[in-house]
Amino acid sequence: MQLNNKKILLTGASGGIGKAVATRLSDAGAIVSLVGRKRGTLTQLLASVGTQHHLLVADINSTEGRSRVAQHCTEKQIDIVINCAGVLEFGLYEEQSQSSIEGMVMTNMLSPMLLCQQLIAPLKLRPEAAMINIGSIFGSIGHPGFTAYCASKHGLRGFSEALQRELADSAIKVGYLAPRATDTEFNSAQVIALNKALGNSMDSPELVATELIRLLESNQAQRFMGWPEKLFVKINGLLPNLVGRALIKNLGLIKQHSKLSSGE
Ligand SMILES: NC(=O)c1ccc[n+]([C@@H]2O[C@H](COP(=O)([O-])OP(=O)(O)OC[C@H]3O[C@@H](n4cnc5c(N)ncnc54)[C@H](OP(=O)(O)O)[C@@H]3O)[C@@H](O)[C@H]2O)c1
Repeated sequence: MQLNNKKILLTGASGGIGKAVATRLSDAGAIVSLVGRKRGTLTQLLASVGTQHHLLVADINSTEGRSRVAQHCTEKQIDIVINCAGVLEFGLYEEQSQSSIEGMVMTNMLSPMLLCQQLIAPLKLRPEAAMINIGSIFGSIGHPGFTAYCASKHGLRGFSEALQRELADSAIKVGYLAPRATDTEFNSAQVIALNKALGNSMDSPELVATELIRLLESNQAQRFMGWPEKLFVKINGLLPNLVGRALIKNLGLIKQHSKLSSGE
């Protein structure tokens, strides 16, 4: 898909990956509607990418916020929607609050699902359209310390796969991008320390933006990022006990870092 002159709505625009994606899309000649909850951050981003773009302050977890996003998509004749908003709380599942679990499932899975449903009708009016959901490698591998987050991203991946197949006879492409750990404020100091202790690499948000553009420009429905992470995704699908044994060996380290997270 050609991106020049495409009208693209991007949730999570004020975040680390969102800013890099907005910049790359702007460079590719697209007109981007930047969605987030913080007007100040969005205004700064708008000033840096250019005033031909648009800004929309909306909380995707509210019915009213999603309705305004849908109305904006209709009014601006949006061609492509990128669901990039997300939240993460690291810690042992038994210790997480109900509101933290609800927040992850809502923001990372249910709100993008509800938004996609509202946007199918306006996107069907466009000659060429796409909905891209930003998942995670943790949408394919259950990782201790990230249980609710993994659940939300597994759900988002399954949703994207099914919807892609359901809309295969339409002009709407549904895509799913799975980054590995990325250097943004999304990851707390404890998660960064854990990644370091586990020897996990971190990508730049610019690399994620490049992969997203590749996904949009290709006929692929899914892209997984990072080596060896994308190999682990395949092995976990075939031999989950093998990957499980390797991850369980790290349980002590994960618990130690989760204690730092809960301030113990
Ligand atoms: N960073 C990583 O290591 C990593 C790895 C794999 C996948 N991902 C995925 O990549 C995506 C972007 O992550 P990031 O690293 O850019 O995170 P980030 O820097 O923390 O940004 C998160 C973005 O989500 C927005 N957001 C959160 N809740 C929202 C809500 N209720 N309504 C509207 N916007 C909301 C935030 O907007 P406000 O400014 O309004 O809060 C912000 O723009 C997420 O889906 C994440 O799961 C990240």
